[in-house]
Order: sequence, then structure tokens, then C-alpha cells
Amino acid sequence: MSKIDSHSTHDAEQDARNENILIYVNGELVPKSEAVVSVYDSGFMLGDGMWEGLRLYNGKWAFFDEHMDRLFNSLKSVSIDIGMGPADVLDILNKTADANGMTDNAHCRLMITRGRKAKPFQHPGLSRFGPTIVAIVEHSKPSQSLQAQGISLATVPQVRGLPMSQDAKYNSHSKLNCVIGCLQAEQAGADEALMLDPHGFVNTTNACNFFIVRRGEVWTSTGDYCMNGVTRQKVIDLCRANDIPVFEKNYSLYEAYGADEAFLTGTFGAQTPVAAIDGKMIGTGDRTMTQRIRDLYKDLVFRNTGA
Ligand SMILES: Cc1ncc(COP(=O)(O)O)c(C=O)c1O
Repeated sequence: MSKIDSHSTHDAEQDARNENILIYVNGELVPKSEAVVSVYDSGFMLGDGMWEGLRLYNGKWAFFDEHMDRLFNSLKSVSIDIGMGPADVLDILNKTADANGMTDNAHCRLMITRGRKAKPFQHPGLSRFGPTIVAIVEHSKPSQSLQAQGISLATVPQVRGLPMSQDAKYNSHSKLNCVIGCLQAEQAGADEALMLDPHGFVNTTNACNFFIVRRGEVWTSTGDYCMNGVTRQKVIDLCRANDIPVFEKNYSLYEAYGADEAFLTGTFGAQTPVAAIDGKMIGTGDRTMTQRIRDLYKDLVFRNTGA
């Protein structure tokens, strides 16, 4: 395998302005150096919270409704009541972006936890002071070199598992499962992890959804054991709308290694090409389908945000 420089799907161009941003913390906009939460916070102590990653294009948060649908469904599932609705969240995001003079190429990590605890123990009832809400909005332009070069993946022992342990659909603060996968991949000399499902079928990466292109068809996992990614669903919908055969199905590494193209999807990087899996180069380097889907997605974002 030819050498591929080390990358992550969240590689962004350096932007010095991010050192001086204002961060939303529980109703206040505070300088980055002063943006802190309590060491008693349930997110810090237990990973007990939910987050969303959203992107700002032309002053509008792309696919905002879809992100809010997932967030509020997740919060309801773990009984975190933030006492506000999507319109209030939109106000927080817009206020934070405005305070930082951002209208485009910005990325938000919105984090909501069960909040500060009265004692340093697990019981959720100890979070008595209301939820903690933080929005970090940074200037963010995905690295262009990643598009040209692609990312390398290694299959890892860590799986994204069954919904009755910790449902992979939770965008939970605790990402330990994914972090372990990523470490295993890094230690195997790859950029990120390709994680299987409990039956050994190809599932997801540690931070993005995973697709292959085989003989003119686009395949992704069934969706039973991975994040219900907003970008994943948009890609599936775009394929359907543009007569590109797309299948959510079980498949193994056999089909992944022999794919013509492979790519990842996520809000940050949209579609990121995969160069190699387990040291095997994917396809010939011709990424016609990935590029077509990228163009369709770009157009969809344009229509969604009026960008
Ligand atoms: C494990 C995992 N898969 C996939 C995604 C991509 O989801 P989306 O397309 O909604 O950004 C994320 C991002 O939150 C993730 O953490």
C-alpha cells in the first residue's frame, strides 16, 4: 500500500480567530478562556448528556429541523428536560454565531447535559440544578487535501453494538466506545476505525457513517447499529431521487475491500473519500460516484440554506 498521510475526518484549516471566540454557557456568552462548567457536571463526571454538530451556511443552520428531531428524541429518551423547544435552541445558535460575526463556514457543537450534581455520584436525581447548555461555534473549513487524498481505515475489535446496551443512535457525551475504536485504528496505523456490527457485518466508522460503491450501486449498513446520521439519510434520499441504486443492507468486509469506491458521511465533512481499508487500496482512485453524490449534496445544502 502506498503511504497515506495521517488524517482525521474532522481535519479543518487552521483559523486563529477561534482563539478569541465567545462561547454560549447557560445563558451567557463568555470568552473561550473563561468558558467552563462545574467539575460536578453530569457530562464531565459520567458522559451523561447529548450533543449535536451543526453547520452554518449563508447565515442558516443546515438541516436544522432534522438535527432538532434527533436531539429532542434523544433528550426525551434519557429524561433530560431543557424547558425549551427548537425555536429557543435556534435563538441560542444564532445569538452565538452573531456574537462571533459568523455567517458561513462555521460549525457548532451544541452540548446539553443533565447538569451539575449535588454529590459526585451516578444517580441522575443528583442533578438538581437544571441542565447545562453549551454552544461552541467555531470558524471551520474542512481541509481540502483530505478530499483529494482520502482517509485510511482499519477494522477494529470494538463494535457499535445492540440497542439494549447503549443504542448507537444516541449522540451521547460519552463517546468512549468510539474513542476506543479510534485508538485501536490509530494503533493499527490507520486514521480512523471501521467498526463492525455484533454479527460481523460492516457497520460504521467511529465518527461517521460509512458507504461503499459497488458496480454502480451505493451500499450502506442496515442502520440498526449505527448513528442515524442526518447526512447518511440525505445521501440515501438523494440517491433515490436521482435514480442511483441505493441499498441499506448487510454486507461483509469481502464486499468492502472489493468496492470501487468508499466514503464517509457526517455533518462536518459532508462526504469524505476512503483511500484504504486494512491496508488495501479501495478501487482505482476513480471516485466518480462519490463526486456525483458530493455535488448533489452541495446543491441540497444550497437549497436548504439559500446559500
Ligand atoms: C458515530 C457517528 N456516526 C455518524 C455521525 C454523523 O452524523 P451526522 O451526519 O448527523 O453528522 C456522527 C456525528 O455525530 C457520529 O458521532
